[in-house]
Amino acid sequence: MELSDKIVLLTGASGGIGKSLLEHLNGNVKVLVGSGRKNLHDFTRIKESEKFNYIPMDLISEDNIKFLFSYIVEEYGKLDILINTIGGSLLSRPIEEYPIEEYDKVLDINLKIAFMLTKESIKFMKRNVHSGGNILHFVSSSSKDVADNKAPYGIAKAGLEALIKYSAYEAAKYNIKVNGISPTYVFTERHEKEIEVQSRRTGKSISEIEETMMSGQLLKRKLYPEDIFPLVKLLIQTEVITGKVYDCTLGKT
Ligand SMILES: NC(=O)c1ccc[n+]([C@@H]2O[C@H](COP(=O)([O-])OP(=O)(O)OC[C@H]3O[C@@H](n4cnc5c(N)ncnc54)[C@H](OP(=O)(O)O)[C@@H]3O)[C@@H](O)[C@H]2O)c1
Repeated sequence: MELSDKIVLLTGASGGIGKSLLEHLNGNVKVLVGSGRKNLHDFTRIKESEKFNYIPMDLISEDNIKFLFSYIVEEYGKLDILINTIGGSLLSRPIEEYPIEEYDKVLDINLKIAFMLTKESIKFMKRNVHSGGNILHFVSSSSKDVADNKAPYGIAKAGLEALIKYSAYEAAKYNIKVNGISPTYVFTERHEKEIEVQSRRTGKSISEIEETMMSGQLLKRKLYPEDIFPLVKLLIQTEVITGKVYDCTLGKT
């Protein structure tokens, strides 16, 4: 089946990578359902249409997740693809100073939500006899490479890699493929702003900060959300790859 026949759920649609994917996929799939916590008009000019629906929701609640999936299947008949971009490192602190409530938040958004979304996806995608489904999660190079003051994030993303492996193992009998993309620093609008703030705080120039960020990469260029689209497209359509996490790190890992 072509992508144009697919019912797709994109979570984290209001985030940097999510928004780019939303704008890229809109009109190229049968139905695109986006979800984030922000309202649609607060981050994009895309308007809802017959082929695009946006549902703002906090997905840390399993009841909300259940509602979202039931709504999609009632409204559109099925779900073929989940792209989950919810995540983030939140607070940066050394382990000895990391407040445990903040640790819980990082684990919740990067791992618990991914677990609940995978759980619900399997329940509904297994109804698609033969075609099954495709699940794609966003991991991070921090799961393998130690990043300064980001232990909970690295731990959560390492857990997410395990979730991908386990769910691929369990869901293969329903022809559901589960994979991940593990990028290094992706330059989104939010990141560009953060670098500006860092530049003002440290007195370093923006290009100096960016050069330091790219120092471990073989390819000395910035990675943008659009650079990842071809890999996303491959992994949301694949019939032959499952349980894999693909590095997208410009040669870093
Ligand atoms: N950008 C990078 O450099 C980079 C590098 C490696 C991996 N990644 C991973 O790639 C993914 C996307 O990154 P990004 O930079 O696009 O992140 P982002 O801009 O921070 O976006 C995160 C998204 O998650 C949503 N979200 C957070 N908590 C939620 C909750 N409780 N319920 C529902 N939605 C929630 C946010 O919604 P609201 O904004 O509406 O609150 C937003 O849409 C993440 O998993 C991240 O860990 C990013």
